[in-house]
Formats: sequence, C-alpha cells, structure tokens
Amino acid sequence: MNRHSIPIPHRLLAALCLTNLTWTVFAQTNALNTAASAPSESSVPLKKPDVVFVPTRPEVVDLMLQMAEIKTNDILYDLGCGDGRIVVAAAKKYGIKAVGVDIDPQRVKESVANVRSNKVEHLVTIKQADIFELDFQEATVVTLYLLPELNVRLMPKLAKLKPGSRIISDDFDMKGAKPKEVVHLNSSPDDENGEAQNTLYKWVVPWDPE
Ligand SMILES: C[S@@+](CC[C@H](N)C(=O)[O-])C[C@H]1O[C@@H](n2cnc3c(N)ncnc32)[C@H](O)[C@@H]1O
Repeated sequence: MNRHSIPIPHRLLAALCLTNLTWTVFAQTNALNTAASAPSESSVPLKKPDVVFVPTRPEVVDLMLQMAEIKTNDILYDLGCGDGRIVVAAAKKYGIKAVGVDIDPQRVKESVANVRSNKVEHLVTIKQADIFELDFQEATVVTLYLLPELNVRLMPKLAKLKPGSRIISDDFDMKGAKPKEVVHLNSSPDDENGEAQNTLYKWVVPWDPE
C-alpha cells in the first residue's frame, strides 16, 4: 500500500502516533525558530498538540463552508486552525469575521502569513491557545478537523453556543450528538493527494441526542 492509497483519517491517526515521538525534539528547536509575527503569538509551545497538522483539502474546505450556511454576521472559529486555510477562505469568500486558533507556534506563524498574503487581516484573527482553555462563546460557526474524542471533549462548550450556531466537522463525529447532516465526498481521480474520502458532519445548536 503506498502513501496515496491510505485514506486521510488513517493518515491522520498514523501521524498522531508519530507526533509523540517527534514532539520533544520539535518543542526544543521550535522556540528558536519562530519569529514573533502577531501580538497573540508566543514562540513557547503551550503544550503538545492533541492532534498533528493534516490540512483539509481545498474542495473539502469549500464544502464545509457551504454546509455552514454562512450569513453576513456570522463569526467563524476554526479550532486547531493549522495553516489558517479555513479562516482565510471564510473571510475571502463570505466576507465574515473569523478566528483561527492553534496551539502550535509554527502553525500560528503559517496562519498569520496566510492571512497577510491574502490581505484579510481586517477580518481574521489568529490566536495561539489551547482550544480546551479557550472562550469561544462568540462563535456562531465552528469548524473542526480533530479526532472523535477531542470533539466529545469540546461538547460542553459547543453546547453553550447561541441557538442556531453551526458546527461542521471533517471526518469525525461527536458521540452522543445526532448530526443534522452527513455528507460524503470523494476526491477527483487526478487529485495530487491520491484517492481520498471525507465524511462531513453538521450539527446545529441545540443538537438532538443520538
Ligand atoms: C488536523 S489539523 C487541522 C488544521 C485545519 N483546521 C484544517 O482543517 O486544515 C489539527 C490542528 O489542531 C492543532 N491542535 C491540536 N491540539 C490543539 C489544542 N489543544 N489547541 C489548539 N490547537 C490544537 C494542531 O496543531 C493542528 O494544526
């Protein structure tokens, strides 16, 4: 089996195991390499990420935003924002405010650069924080590409969002919460990442129990 034939969620889980081996070295060297490029950015890792960075494919980002049924006054939070692709797309395509949060200073640095190169600084804020310590109650749309157990850990905070807020998760469900919509997406045959499948879940606050 080559790399391209492994479905994305399995790659994510394999990468999660690898990160346990590599984090110590990364944490020691990263403090030296990260430039201070945003007020909320610290070069000191807060703690080891709960899941490694695996970017969401652009067509999946588009579909996640479509499923969110975005309105002009929405505020989108991407919890674990990686390189900031979801918050940048939300600002560029829908003109809404968006907040990207990541614990990893390297990802924060990449997100800040992404925001600047796409000239959406007036709409997008990037924060370095632990999503489990974060106050995100102003969010009306939340996007997730984490792991099932991390989604479940976020449930108490997600449940307190304003009624009508939408939560969209790439690939992972949220045990105990019945999704309002589940969409499957296959990659096109010529996708440079090879064959991939994504399942997207949507919940609307307050969700029904499963
Ligand atoms: C699978 S990536 C998803 C990136 C982006 N949302 C996307 O869809 O392209 C998960 C991200 O979560 C971040 N992360 C992991 N644990 C975190 C935590 N406790 N607080 C904030 N970010 C975290 C990782 O650094 C990584 O960038």
